Amino acid sequence: MRKSKIIYNPLLSVKENAENNHVSISAIRWYIRTNGIDRKRDNAIAISKSIANYKKSNPTATMNDISTALELSVNTVRKYVQNKINKSNIDNSKLSTFDLSKRKFIISSISDSQDEILSNILRLHIKQSRFDCDLTYSIGVFYKHIPQPKLKFDKYPQVDDVRPLDEFNNIEDGSLHSIVIDLPFVIKGKEVNYKSMMADRFNCFSNAKELYDTNTSMLQLAYSKLSKEGILVFKTMDIIYGGVPHWIGNYVQNKAIEIGFKLVDMFILFAKTKVLTNVNTTQLHARKFHSYFFVLEKR
Ligand SMILES: C[S@@+](CC[C@H](N)C(=O)[O-])C[C@H]1O[C@@H](n2cnc3c(N)ncnc32)[C@H](O)[C@@H]1O
Repeated sequence: MRKSKIIYNPLLSVKENAENNHVSISAIRWYIRTNGIDRKRDNAIAISKSIANYKKSNPTATMNDISTALELSVNTVRKYVQNKINKSNIDNSKLSTFDLSKRKFIISSISDSQDEILSNILRLHIKQSRFDCDLTYSIGVFYKHIPQPKLKFDKYPQVDDVRPLDEFNNIEDGSLHSIVIDLPFVIKGKEVNYKSMMADRFNCFSNAKELYDTNTSMLQLAYSKLSKEGILVFKTMDIIYGGVPHWIGNYVQNKAIEIGFKLVDMFILFAKTKVLTNVNTTQLHARKFHSYFFVLEKR
């Protein structure tokens, strides 16, 4: 059977899943039906997980606090807290997407789809339908299949509702739950005489020092604005520049840990095809066909 292109998120409504996938509601219902998914059970699991998570970070929270924070009725919260869910309603002929014994529902560390990776990070780590903030929004390619972030910044804004990065300093320290960063990874020094197509599309750095320094300062900036246990999603990749490999992934990981983050997950995006440059030299290093999405938690 042909693999469905639908990226289904059990934490979202059928309508939200349809919007994110740019398909009709009936296409999502078809996906749910053909995969034998039990929405009711998924919903119950999602609610109990979100209540447990909220209680972990706010141990003294009352039922009213939980109800306000998670936008659930006090009655629903009470049912879950007091474990009064009717287990006899479970339809054993259907599957839960939270059931990790089912291979097709397991979230994988590798994908050829950035949309799938971002959607899985939202589901697995952010546990909300969207990110709080993107610091390198550009034209928002990341948000073709997931909801727009609440706040959008970029050093060089290209779209109307994106604020200049300098204004990010006005955000209160420790106030954000999630931040996304996707810096350029191209160095276009004077000695390079070929035209990198990627360098033309987005911005690039003029030397390696600028690239490393910017990675460091952006990690520090995100750290200061994230709340405790807040999540930074950092996309990066290793590059070869001037015949020298730059292991930017390692650099970002080490620097992030030094600043106070913990690496809680890593996704690898692999490219099935890659733009070729017109340099005719002997190959010295493996051609990079992958990039990373690091999931970093503020400790
Ligand atoms: C690869 S693009 C981001 C693409 C974006 N994730 C999307 O979905 O469309 C890199 C972004 O980093 C920004 N940028 C370039 N140089 C920067 C710097 N020195 N500091 C911070 N951001 C920078 C660029 O303006 C650009 O929008």
